[in-house]
Order: sequence, then C-alpha cells, then structure tokens
Amino acid sequence: MFYRSIARPFLFRLEPETAHELALRMLKVALGSEAARAAAARRFGREPFGALARFGLRFANPLGLAAGFDKNGVAIKQLAALGFGFIEVGTVTQHAQAGNARPRLFRLPADRALINRQGFNNRGAAALAARLKAQGRPPCVLGINIGKSRVVDVADAVPDYLASFELIHPHADYIAVNVSSPNTPNLRELQRADALTALLDALQRRNRELAAQYARRPVPLLVKVAPDLDERELELIVDVARRAQLAGIIATNTTTSRAGLRTSARVVAAYGAGGLSGAPLARRATEVIATLYRLARGALMIIGVGGIFNAEDAWAKICAGASLLQLYTGFIYEGITVARDINEGLARLVQQHGFRTLDEAVGCQAEKLLAVSHQPSALAR
Ligand SMILES: Cc1cc2nc3c(=O)[nH]c(=O)nc-3n(C[C@H](O)[C@H](O)[C@H](O)COP(=O)(O)O)c2cc1C
Repeated sequence: MFYRSIARPFLFRLEPETAHELALRMLKVALGSEAARAAAARRFGREPFGALARFGLRFANPLGLAAGFDKNGVAIKQLAALGFGFIEVGTVTQHAQAGNARPRLFRLPADRALINRQGFNNRGAAALAARLKAQGRPPCVLGINIGKSRVVDVADAVPDYLASFELIHPHADYIAVNVSSPNTPNLRELQRADALTALLDALQRRNRELAAQYARRPVPLLVKVAPDLDERELELIVDVARRAQLAGIIATNTTTSRAGLRTSARVVAAYGAGGLSGAPLARRATEVIATLYRLARGALMIIGVGGIFNAEDAWAKICAGASLLQLYTGFIYEGITVARDINEGLARLVQQHGFRTLDEAVGCQAEKLLAVSHQPSALAR
C-alpha cells in the first residue's frame, strides 16, 4: 500500500536509473543496522516450504532477486532482509566498465515492463570480490553472475570469463554464466553449441581444479539463456549443459522482441535498442522453462525468471518446471513486500492444488503448456 500510493509515484517521477540508485541508497541506510534488518526479516521473511534443497544448497524460499539489480553487491544483506531466498549479484565483468550512455533504462507502465540497455555497468570482479570478503557471508544464498568485458573480443571470451571466475569463486554459493544479455555486442553468440561448450568446459575444469586445491566441492555453475531461442537451440544448450555437468539453467534474460506491447510503437521506437523485461515477457519465459524442463528430464534445475509480479505468475513458472524463481521488474513495480506476498501466495496455491510440497508441483503442467503453445494461434507471439 505504502509503496504503491507513496513511494512508487515518487520514484516513478524520477529518471529511472536515478530512481534505482536512490532506492538502493535508501535501502542501505534504512536497513543499515543489524537491528533494522532483523526487524525487516521478521516482517518480510517467509519459509513456507521449509528449507529447499537445490544443487547442494539450502534455500529458505524459492524466490530470488535476479541479476542486474545489485550489480556491485552493495546491499546484499539489506535485500536479503526483504525476504528473498537468494540474491544474484552482477553481472560483473573482469574489467570495470561504465556501460552504455544514459539514458539506458526506460519504464513502460502501461505494460508493466522495462527496457534497458545498460551494458554491464559494473566496478569489476576484483572490486566485488573485495567487497564480499570484507562483508562476510550474507544470510541467504548468494549467486554471482559473470559476463564478458566489452573491451574483450567475443573470440577471446573464455580467458575473460575465467579471470572473473577466479576472482569471485570463493565468495559465491553458485555462479551464473551470462551469455544472454542483448546489450553487449555479439555476447549472445556464446549461446551457440560450440562456443558454449568451450566456455563451460573451461570454467568447469578450473572449478574442479580450485575445488581440489581448496579441499571443497566445486561451485554449482548455471548458464543464463535468452527467451529468443527456438526449440532446436534450447535442445543444443541442454545437451551442452548436461555434458558440462552444470547445476542448472536460468531462464530467461530479457527479450529483444517488442511484440504485443500496449505502449505506443512511436514511444517504444524512441527508447531504442535494449532488452524488454516484465509482464510482456512472462508467457515466453514460461514456454522456455517448460521446454527446458522437458528436455532436461530432471538432470538440470531450472531457475524461472521473466514477468513475475505475484503468486499466480510464480505458480505458472513452478508448474512449467522451475524449481527456483527470480524477479527484477516485479520488484520495481510491486515494491518491498513483493517477496513476502509471493511466498505466502505460493504456499496457498500449492495447498489449493492439492500438493503436499512445492517440489511435487514442479513441472506438473509442462506437457500441457507445450501442447497448447504448439498450436499455431499461440505461436504468434
Ligand atoms: C535494468 C535491468 C538490468 C539487468 N541487468 C542484468 C544483468 O546485469 N545480468 C543479467 O543476467 N540479467 C540482467 N537483467 C535481466 C534480469 O535479471 C531478468 O532476467 C529479466 O529482467 C527478466 O525478469 P523480470 O521480468 O522479472 O525483470 C536486467 C534486467 C533489468 C530490467
């Protein structure tokens, strides 16, 4: 209520990225003390399904904050206090970089959407590693998302990712390999089977070496994919991911599509290039999750992301095959109660549909969903 009637109208009057920076700063100050975070955690933290076991980690609840919100890991403890079961920081790159010229983030309120072309603005993997070392472990699962530095040619991506990996691996509960942002030239080429195999194999090799060196288990590795891939491309990615023994796939990143928007085409065109997130992405992301679920046959965990605003949206992704969920745009539109509201609503939905646990419901509608989406009318998206 407070967010929708007071905070959001205020923030939405500001330039979007300025609003983002201000909100992050306010959060850091308001939840700066241990006592304030404990009070927030009591108010927002929910564990409706008990601890969820996923790729060797335990999640208090299935809803995480997606990559891009806290790129430099400056407010992890504060965000965890808002009830997220996990936080994915980044994308970070080996080299610190400014990203694209501003403005590069746009709101489409009529569509409950955002368009961004930030281009991995971040202070670099070494700075993130130093901050995480100084801060100590956060009170929830921490994922770190790594990407390619802009100054590095896509042909030389492997050593660039490896450099980030080496810097951040001691601090990550899991590592997400981002090959799907539309805002770094040619990055999405790394989703092709040959390039992806080379990248993931190299990261896993180093992962195992480091695990042996430090006498611990390898860090779970996941790959984050675009929603703009067809079934054949998804099949190849699942194949590569399985052979590289990945823990899972994060589906999906933002889309380059502009289909079906309510915002006028003239306004959308004026915003220019970038990735679209939020409600218009929801259905496509859910289809990708169902496709991956069917292809992976339990061998890979799927983190479902794209257009989750409420418990029903979250439920649709669980039923499609996601074992964990993330959101970004939903946080901007729904505010600080979003994790609590979704977790509480999800618990009710699981019960209403007659399941005893969340895990029982994972993938329960995948086949049905794919049968519907393969009818010609539904394909026109
Ligand atoms: C402003 C903005 C910045 C983002 N930055 C990143 C990023 O750095 N790395 C990444 O993997 N995804 C990034 N994303 C994508 C989100 O993590 C998420 O995959 C996508 O927005 C779909 O989820 P949503 O509809 O809940 O926002 C960004 C999204 C937005 C809106």
